[in-house]
Amino acid sequence: VFAAVVQAPEDPILGVTVAYNKDPNPIKLNLGVGAYRTEEGKPLVLNVVRKAEQLLVNDRSRVKEYLPILGLAEFNKLSAKLILGDDSPAIQENRVATAQCLSGTGSLRVGAEFLAKHYHQRTIYIPLPSWGNHLKVFTMAGLSVNAYRYYDPATRGLNIQGLLEDLGAAPSGAIVLLHACAHNPTGVDPAPEQWEQIRQLIRSKALLPFFDCAYQGFASGSLDADALAVRMFVADGGECLIAQSYAKNMGLYGERVGALSIVCKGADVASRVESQLKLVIRPMYSNPPIHGASIAATILKNSDMYNEWKIELKAMADRIISMRKQLYDALSARGTAGDWSHIIKQIGMFTFTGLNSDQVAFMTKEYHIYMTSDGRISMAGLSSKTVPHLADAIHAAVTL
Ligand code: LMR
Repeated sequence: VFAAVVQAPEDPILGVTVAYNKDPNPIKLNLGVGAYRTEEGKPLVLNVVRKAEQLLVNDRSRVKEYLPILGLAEFNKLSAKLILGDDSPAIQENRVATAQCLSGTGSLRVGAEFLAKHYHQRTIYIPLPSWGNHLKVFTMAGLSVNAYRYYDPATRGLNIQGLLEDLGAAPSGAIVLLHACAHNPTGVDPAPEQWEQIRQLIRSKALLPFFDCAYQGFASGSLDADALAVRMFVADGGECLIAQSYAKNMGLYGERVGALSIVCKGADVASRVESQLKLVIRPMYSNPPIHGASIAATILKNSDMYNEWKIELKAMADRIISMRKQLYDALSARGTAGDWSHIIKQIGMFTFTGLNSDQVAFMTKEYHIYMTSDGRISMAGLSSKTVPHLADAIHAAVTL
């Protein structure tokens, strides 16, 4: 009965790892998926995460009962505080409905399903380009997806004019997906005064901001500084949605830890929104897993562990910045044609190199370097040892 099922293509990001795993060549390098690696090229479990896990294991009172549909209440409160700030009036006024979800993707999907059912506008605008999964998540939830100009290939920076024009032309009430910080894939974020322009436009047109916050702590190395855009929008008293992920900043990738917060205008609305989120989640996966969220909550509520986390997070962010500098220097030393200063200007986990898909294919074939075909490199996958190999490959690719 399934004979007519056709072979589906691999995912454009996760499929890069599938191809990498099949390559027997020992010099191979995976710069596809945004996952942190140490200088030795190994995945990293943060010390503070190990500590939290130990505490959880030693606590014999812990059981494996189902969590409530919305997840661990303590984790939800702490997550809202992490993104909105300790003294957020929205939290104090009980205007925030939060659900523990399956990392960033799950939070986006639950938010989108809620909007498809309860919001009057079904159109969402995503930046051009955006994380490859956004289009699919929102389409599958029943929203219709449009793009707004974001990245300018000529300047390798933000196309603020295009952005304002496109959002200015969006129908009133349309949903706007914003990357809270460390835009994926471009590594280009609006400056604070540009965020203010975007905020004013969004509010004046009654558009609905939906923040994807997957890299808090990775843009500036400071959790608070990276929450600036979200907090600007919450400070004006208006509504917004926020999808948070702890995959990158706590390194909890496979634990699938995240949260969806919906900031409402009043406590009564937030409570009704929360009740409807339960109806979205129950038939989808019933309730979220307990372990990862317990790790995150343990760290977030203990000030010593929280401080230790901040130090480890900063160390990851700093190693990525050092990789940017080393790659830039290596290309300068080779006299590679072109201006590569965007490598050090862009922020977060990725460099949007400007390499085209043919050049990427060449680097994979000849140098066993794996990356997404849009020319995005995960800087977190590089090390001092592998920078020269990557620089050689880029040098050869641009002189093709
Ligand atoms: C990425 O963009 O590489 C990450 O967000 C991982 C993913 O799920 O695509």
